[in-house]
Amino acid sequence: MKAIVQHEYGTTEVLELIELPDPEPGPDGVVVRIRAAAVDPGVWHLMEGTPYLVRLMGFGVRRPKAPVRGLDFAGVVHAVGGDVTRFQPGDEVFGTCQGSFAEYALTTVDKLARKPGRLGFEEAAAVPISAFTALQALRDKGKVAPRHKVLIIGAGGGVGTFAVQIAKAFGATVDGVCGTGKVDLVRSLGADRVFDYTREDFGGGYDLILDTAGNRSLTSLRKALTPRGTLVIVGGEGDGRWIGPVGRNLRALFLGPFVKQKLLGLFSTENQDDLQALRALIEAEKLTPVIDRSYSLAEVPEAIRYASEGHARGKVVITV
Ligand SMILES: NC(=O)c1ccc[n+]([C@@H]2O[C@H](COP(=O)([O-])OP(=O)(O)OC[C@H]3O[C@@H](n4cnc5c(N)ncnc54)[C@H](OP(=O)(O)O)[C@@H]3O)[C@@H](O)[C@H]2O)c1
Repeated sequence: MKAIVQHEYGTTEVLELIELPDPEPGPDGVVVRIRAAAVDPGVWHLMEGTPYLVRLMGFGVRRPKAPVRGLDFAGVVHAVGGDVTRFQPGDEVFGTCQGSFAEYALTTVDKLARKPGRLGFEEAAAVPISAFTALQALRDKGKVAPRHKVLIIGAGGGVGTFAVQIAKAFGATVDGVCGTGKVDLVRSLGADRVFDYTREDFGGGYDLILDTAGNRSLTSLRKALTPRGTLVIVGGEGDGRWIGPVGRNLRALFLGPFVKQKLLGLFSTENQDDLQALRALIEAEKLTPVIDRSYSLAEVPEAIRYASEGHARGKVVITV
């Protein structure tokens, strides 16, 4: 099979499109013929091995342990192991794996769900990581509830476009913050008010703020919250090569016990229940991925360069 691999950490220059043996399923494994994959910040953090903390989290200190990049996918089950009963060859699925920038990938049943019928492969591949993040930030950390006043910072990005829709599905009043070019997009996703950060600042009185952009101080974010409001720090690319965005989470962690507001970080997880929850929202037409651009497998380096500029409209996908 063809796959995008890397044998050392670095910029997109380390990526190569080469032939590899097709994966074989173990007893509980599922091999998927990948039809589409998606690019998210996790992909280039693993490519670069930055922040360095990533390397210490089991991904390989000197070089990446798993050479094939790509996490999200949608595709067709190609082969299943002897213990797998829930899926069979020919099923259309979406989910996560280690190495979706390839023609075939090996995954397990707990990381898979049937592809929502109303989505094509590209749209379905755009969902898992970014939508897990939005869902877990809003529901699990933020305890979002009907009539909560919610602010999504970075509302036109990969996580933000899902977050706006999911917060609306939970019955919240949702405001979004984005750059000029995405104001119409964010409004079309259901946001009640949209703030263009190049022209205006957002107001206050928010029960819940999700910050995916990471370029505002904790002090200014706390001012925009109600006295018992919740801030969920989802991302941001600052704080250098050692700990990266984790620095803000640590500052929030230290400050948290001394204030009435909740200041929380998030490490999203991939799991079957949330994949099913997202599928249900999609089938109910409450959640639809936004695709900015689509690239071929050979164009993965270009796709990563574009997405890592941090201004894609929704998601960047790879068609395999
Ligand atoms: N905690 C977790 O488990 C987890 C999981 C997934 C991702 N993340 C992190 O979450 C972050 C966002 O991921 P993503 O996929 O959504 O990235 P993305 O698609 O690049 O989106 C980033 C967004 O930030 C916005 N932005 C930039 N400057 C801004 C400003 N001054 N004010 C408001 N918004 C601004 C951009 O909007 P404009 O284009 O309009 O400028 C863009 O839409 C990344 O740092 C990623 O690593 C964390």
